[in-house]
Amino acid sequence: MLERLGITNFKAFGRQDIALAPFTLLTGLNSSGKSTVLQALALLRQSHEAGVLEDGADSGLLLNGEFVQLGTGKDVRHEAYPKDDPDIGLSVAPAASASEPLSWRALYGSEDDLLKLAASPPARLSLIDALPELFGPRFQYLKADRIVPDISYPRSHHAVVRRGFLGARGEHTANYLRVHQDDSIEADLRHPSSPSGTLLAQTDAWMQQLCPGVDLQAIGIDGTDTVRLSYGFGSGVSASNRYRPTNVGFGLTYALPVVIACLTARPDSLILLENPEAHLHPQGQTSLAYLAAAAVAAGAQLVVETHSDHVLNGLRISVKNGRIPASATAVHFFGRSGHSGEVVSPGMSDDGMLSDWPRGFFDEWENSLDQLLD
Ligand SMILES: Nc1ncnc2c1ncn2[C@@H]1O[C@H](COP(=O)(O)OP(=O)(O)OP(=O)(O)O)[C@@H](O)[C@H]1O
Ligand SMILES: [Mg+2]
Repeated sequence: MLERLGITNFKAFGRQDIALAPFTLLTGLNSSGKSTVLQALALLRQSHEAGVLEDGADSGLLLNGEFVQLGTGKDVRHEAYPKDDPDIGLSVAPAASASEPLSWRALYGSEDDLLKLAASPPARLSLIDALPELFGPRFQYLKADRIVPDISYPRSHHAVVRRGFLGARGEHTANYLRVHQDDSIEADLRHPSSPSGTLLAQTDAWMQQLCPGVDLQAIGIDGTDTVRLSYGFGSGVSASNRYRPTNVGFGLTYALPVVIACLTARPDSLILLENPEAHLHPQGQTSLAYLAAAAVAAGAQLVVETHSDHVLNGLRISVKNGRIPASATAVHFFGRSGHSGEVVSPGMSDDGMLSDWPRGFFDEWENSLDQLLD
């Protein structure tokens, strides 16, 4: 498990240490540094996949690639960096009992998009050994701008079979579901409403929390390299009708990559999620948090950026109901102080209560009620 992330002179942060838990929830003001945390992890993964994070002549942080497109050195170096410490640093500490933190220090080059490492980095195999979640085969990163309802989706064997990857925008989700629909998912993730433990049956069961009666199909389109997704809606006159994503609203398709990412969680999975709540009605947002907590119960580590009090409450209820222990959670509230992000971290107790409610931390209900009742 990743236990801490250290950031030096990277985007929103001068120097910041973030405690990571099996379920880490990042929330707070817009433009306060939440995605920066996810991007720091995705940048390491991206550099690793390109083969430049490890020992070798051309090692460095690769700023532009499949996961993140950050620009050049001048875009990513924190603008208020200390003059005696001008480099960009990232470090990740594995769980306490494991090895030392792994750290990377990259030299600044204003126009460079591969920031060269200052010292010899760790060898490739030791990276995967030390941090299998970040560098191993079970990594998912779903950004806020995900796939939208469409007629068809790409069909890449390499993405969904070799890499088991849904795509940073979830673009491989439909094909993943087509290929892996009969795979058995972890017991902790099984929704009680379905007797079957296959990925497809469980996807239907969890999607029915968002829209009762819905079921999905993903089939290849003959003669093309694309996959079609379709939805059905229960019994009655329309029982046999299949609907294309463009005719069933936005929320189902937008949430699907998040549902599949969680359902395919295993021990050693790392799942980075931006705004899983997007386009969902409140009850659906809470249900997604239950599913995310179930992924943690199945052994995965999740880092979730959210603006949703329903996602927070879904996590709190999961703790209260004993689905995951309070010690498996970390909640960070991001604000701003001058040029830098500032982080406050309320603790959670076993009954799902939080130790601290800083100003601006999900207090808008009370603020509005105060005005309504005044
Ligand atoms: N080189 C830099 N130096 C200083 N600050 C930077 C730099 N690059 C980006 N930032 C700051 O980082 C912040 C953006 O952070 P981030 O994208 O992590 O926001 P966020 O908290 O995820 O927001 P949202 O809730 O809207 O998704 C902005 O305030 C921006 O000014
Ligand atoms: Mg963000």
